[in-house]
Amino acid sequence: MNDPATPIGGLPTPSGALALDTYDMGMRFGSFHALQGVSMKVAPGTVHALLGENGAGKSTLVKCVAGFQRPTSGSILIDGREQAIPNPVVARTLGIGMVYQHFTLAPGMTVAENLLLAGGKTPAIIDWKQQRADLAAFLKTTPFQLDLDARPQELAAGEKQKLELLKQLYLKPRLLILDEPTSVLTPQEADEVLGHVREFARSGQCTVLIITHKFREVMAYADDVTVLRRGQAVHHCAVAGTTPALLAQAMVGDSTAASESTAGRAAGATNAAATASLVVNGLKVMGDRGALAVQDLSLAVAAGEILGVAGVSGNGQRELVEALVGQRARTAGSVQVQGQPYAARREENHALKVRSLPEEPLRNACVGDLSVAENMALRDFDRPPLCSAGRLRFGHWRSRAREWITDYGIKTQGENAPIRSLSGGNVQRAVLAREPHGDINVLIAANPVFGLDFAAVKVLLISEDLDELLELADRIVVMSDGRIVFETPGISADRQTIGAHMGGGH
Ligand SMILES: Nc1ncnc2c1ncn2[C@@H]1O[C@H](COP(=O)(O)OP(=O)(O)OP(=O)(O)O)[C@@H](O)[C@H]1O
Ligand SMILES: [Mg+2]
Repeated sequence: MNDPATPIGGLPTPSGALALDTYDMGMRFGSFHALQGVSMKVAPGTVHALLGENGAGKSTLVKCVAGFQRPTSGSILIDGREQAIPNPVVARTLGIGMVYQHFTLAPGMTVAENLLLAGGKTPAIIDWKQQRADLAAFLKTTPFQLDLDARPQELAAGEKQKLELLKQLYLKPRLLILDEPTSVLTPQEADEVLGHVREFARSGQCTVLIITHKFREVMAYADDVTVLRRGQAVHHCAVAGTTPALLAQAMVGDSTAASESTAGRAAGATNAAATASLVVNGLKVMGDRGALAVQDLSLAVAAGEILGVAGVSGNGQRELVEALVGQRARTAGSVQVQGQPYAARREENHALKVRSLPEEPLRNACVGDLSVAENMALRDFDRPPLCSAGRLRFGHWRSRAREWITDYGIKTQGENAPIRSLSGGNVQRAVLAREPHGDINVLIAANPVFGLDFAAVKVLLISEDLDELLELADRIVVMSDGRIVFETPGISADRQTIGAHMGGGH
């Protein structure tokens, strides 16, 4: 058994929530200061939220605490004692567990195997009957339901995220770090997850440090907040004594935190012509397990409109996106862009100006070890001006990348930095810069991360993140069991009503 509470050498492993302090912590990458003089106090048994814009240093800070990176200065105190955490194994021994912003599942293994592997101390001979019974009993203590025999590639992003969390919970952490755990969850799923970890903290077994971009979650589930801006801790407060407006102001550093996207949305809605850019008719798509995942789905998106597709993950949204972008066969139905049949071939994407922004862009749309400039050139490196007379003109790759970095506000050390060194939101910005460059008719965005300014581009479609949809979409449809079951204008959309339809309550 890999239960960390099992006595080792007769001594019981200590348990209970840990106190975490960082003192004057700094992290440099070359000459760039990702963290500077960060002092933060996280009280045991509390839920502490870490807020900040894309690139503020949130992931860097928690990676230091989880032993994934070593800070270049300052110290980390666990239960009041200074502690070196040189690697994740030491962090684990201390009782620190972390759910990363990027998925870390073994794709070819089942849910059960992924859960067992997480312990890192798998016995040579696995008593599967016993282990499965233990896993099933453990799952019963959580609000989540996952098929133990499913494999991650069959799971939607939301389900993978829950599995990542379960992997950590199974190890009974004393300090649980969550890096944007809800960015791919629906509000209901997020409430389930956050409600569960808050109870876990309240019970005194664990302290929770959570990174999120969502004020609603901070206000509802956290006890205290630390705000990072450009690598510095600029604001500390108790949730009881603050408001989303004050937090937004601390994040951006001045009083112009007003919602620009709402203004953009109103303008976009009035500009929306009656002509439909994208028309989907009677679409049927098969899922991984041979049943229809998308059932007779029809929708139309007007030019300039943002249509949000909401739904609990696993209700066919992933298959819908894949079928639209040509990664999955369509069993029946038709798709048209600007009145032309659209089968997602490369020439059609080019001619009809269709672009897509997939979920998990670092994995699905980038080559991690290549530079920002190289990744930005992936789509047109073989065309002028990036290539002429059969020669690749790297100077042009780099100068264009520098322009896009400025235009899209991408925080990076430069166009030559490997793209995997960028923060999650900045990877997405880089992909976005590449995808809809120039004039586009349709952008298909699957589960974009928070903080992207969609008002800046003519955009469209598909997120499992209701908070984001409510903020961005002109119109929202709800997908349940492969069908569209509800539709509402974005401006008058009601969270409760949408939620009820997402849960299949109508
Ligand atoms: N390994 C690295 N090498 C070089 N620079 C890095 C590395 N890791 C992070 N950075 C830089 O440090 C800054 C902070 O990144 P970090 O990932 O901590 O941001 P974040 O607050 O988590 O942002 P997001 O909300 O987008 O996830 C970014 O500018 C990033 O490019
Ligand atoms: Mg991050």
